[in-house]
Amino acid sequence: MTLSAALSFDIKAVDVASNARRGTLQTGHGRVETPTFMAVGTRATVTGLTPADLADIGAQVVLGNTYHLMLRPGPELFRRVGGIHAFMGWSGPVLTDSGGYQIFSLAEDRTLSERGARFRSYTDQRMHMLSPERSIEMQTAIGSDIMMVLDVCVDSRSDEATLRDAMERTHRWAKRSLDARTNPAQALFAIVQGGVRRELRKESAGVLTAMPFDGFAIGGLAVGDARAEREDMTHFSAELLPRDRPRYLMGVGTPADLLEAIAAGVDMFDCILPTHLAWQGTAFTGTGRVRLTRGPNAQADVPLDAECTCSTCRLYSRAYLHHLFKCSEPLGPRLVSLHNLHHYHALMAEARRAIEAGTYAAFAKRKLEAIDRHEH
Ligand code: GUN
Ligand code: ZN
Repeated sequence: MTLSAALSFDIKAVDVASNARRGTLQTGHGRVETPTFMAVGTRATVTGLTPADLADIGAQVVLGNTYHLMLRPGPELFRRVGGIHAFMGWSGPVLTDSGGYQIFSLAEDRTLSERGARFRSYTDQRMHMLSPERSIEMQTAIGSDIMMVLDVCVDSRSDEATLRDAMERTHRWAKRSLDARTNPAQALFAIVQGGVRRELRKESAGVLTAMPFDGFAIGGLAVGDARAEREDMTHFSAELLPRDRPRYLMGVGTPADLLEAIAAGVDMFDCILPTHLAWQGTAFTGTGRVRLTRGPNAQADVPLDAECTCSTCRLYSRAYLHHLFKCSEPLGPRLVSLHNLHHYHALMAEARRAIEAGTYAAFAKRKLEAIDRHEH
């Protein structure tokens, strides 16, 4: 169905034994097949990879971050060059996070008020204000296809009063973000908060879904919570969201987390894990994680993952990758980033096929068992 000028979302199939959905999201810069994983390109680059690399590994959406991009290169540059797509040479869909999470996790000298967050810039040490309106203004200059509202993030296991204050302010800021939107070609998603408390999640979903957002995110997880709590909150929150809008679980997670959340009816994901771990020499494979710097890999004249069809696995051995990391050669992190992102995107493609076939629940069970077998 058509949601706004910015976005339409069609559900093609729903799994038989779970809430998994197979959809298509149509943005101003092309289609996204869901469930989808979005590669994290915080500073308008997925570190070490070109847009051509991203297209090769099946990436459909790139995620940028308002907090980083407002400080450097700043909104004027984006306005001058006509937005992030031209700036970074990526013509596909872009989603921008609002900066709410970075204010919580990164900002120094930060003071939060009803107006917004004041914080010190890590680029020039000057004070900046990030308000809901400023975040929308910046995301408008960036020209992302999907913008996120500025939200208030706190540790998910904070006391109830802290969680409630953050949630209620998030709701007021969501309304201000809607009112601040100027470009109808850019979609806007709200973010459900409420930590690990069901009654707050319910209230948050209720308040936000009464407003005309194009999609809904589940935020505030993977900050202090355990895996079981995170799964419970994901299932509980996803069921409270409208069936006809895309659902986005922010900042999560491992392949196992993604398989679980897809079963809960989540459509979109982002996580730094595949790229972050690649830079440390850790690769995801069908048989668990591989630490390439470990001794035995020095002599391993075999592909990183024999089952993988990515260019790294087709062309190079574990011994070569081990060597690159030992010499601190930049090609090492690059090749493992390509592999790890390919691994995540291939998992999403398999999940999409399984949902279409009505076999997702069995597929996810098989995959989760394989992961558990190798990682415990
Ligand atoms: N990334 C991971 N979690 C969150 C969240 O709760 N809010 C925002 N804005 N970004 C996130
Ligand atoms: Zn590979």
